[in-house]
Amino acid sequence: MAAENFSSTYRCPSNIALVKYWGKKAGGIQWPANPSISITLNDLFAETTVSLSGKNTSGKPQFTFLFDHQPKPSFEPKLTQFFDRIWEQLPVVREYALAIKTQNNFPHGTGIASSAAGFGALACCLVDLQSTLLGKDFDVQLASSIARLGSGSACRSLFAEPAIWGIHPQIEGSNDDFAIPLQSPVSRNLSGLMDAVLIIDAGEKSVSSTQGHDLLNNNPYSAARYSVATQHLAQICEAFHQGDVNQFIHIVEHEALQLHAMMMLSNPYFILMRPGTLAVIEQVWQFRKETGIPLMFTLDAGANVHLLFPAAHKTAVTNFIEKQLLLYCQNEQYFCTETGKAPTKLV
Ligand code: PMV
Repeated sequence: MAAENFSSTYRCPSNIALVKYWGKKAGGIQWPANPSISITLNDLFAETTVSLSGKNTSGKPQFTFLFDHQPKPSFEPKLTQFFDRIWEQLPVVREYALAIKTQNNFPHGTGIASSAAGFGALACCLVDLQSTLLGKDFDVQLASSIARLGSGSACRSLFAEPAIWGIHPQIEGSNDDFAIPLQSPVSRNLSGLMDAVLIIDAGEKSVSSTQGHDLLNNNPYSAARYSVATQHLAQICEAFHQGDVNQFIHIVEHEALQLHAMMMLSNPYFILMRPGTLAVIEQVWQFRKETGIPLMFTLDAGANVHLLFPAAHKTAVTNFIEKQLLLYCQNEQYFCTETGKAPTKLV
């Protein structure tokens, strides 16, 4: 087959951070100010196909882009920036024009971040095509570092294990360029968590990630935040390993609230929670107290609430959500997913 006809299709899951990346470090492109860790959300994914569509002799990236079978001009500046960033690293981008088609399996306008899944899938396709052309094996580290250049958190979507991104003094191999899988085994108590994502506000985020990260630069509390996040990462790795559920819950919830606190402490300041977000948090605490079920919340940089729990409690948690939390969800929407799957090559 002529190289011009090569194509690659990947499904890549989204991820939710347990220790949050919020703030960038100077000196590199998309280097995190503190290390973070996340788990993948198996059933919230992007599927992307990249086809080589002829030689590229223009000296700059050439691509076409369809999102849900439609052109999406608003994504093109971000993609152009991404291709400029990976131009030196990936000959396939220099040598070929690319036709990209992508779609998410979750509806738009739900406030669920899609860039991690999208850039994760795109990076996998590009690295796969490059490996095929060069007759090499797929290089997951390269894919993770390419994904990072599209969206920082995307670099963590490439692993079945909890993924760590950013230098941590006690974690061997940790670095700012790409994510690595958690090395120590996860205790049975904390493996196979599920995530129910409650759609509290489906609207556009009031602060984009880029703006949010930037706001940490002039925030007088950011150095303390980075230091606490670094401690939290060491503690959560230990909790994963020991199966210390209480410690795990404590860190996960504290991290979610710190991310939001940092936005309240920024200038300009933002409150990203909605009244429904707070109401859900209070109900979750009450439910945990009454039942002893280790149900915990985390948050992204928006109003939606992620509820994490061991799969063994799925029935009880689903009943709780349907009876007591749906009233806080816009159009009663929520998505329940297993966690801990790596991207898959479809074609
Ligand atoms: O990858 P970005 O630049 O969209 O940043 C994502 C940051 C958070 O989702 C808020 C936290 C994280 O670590 O994923």
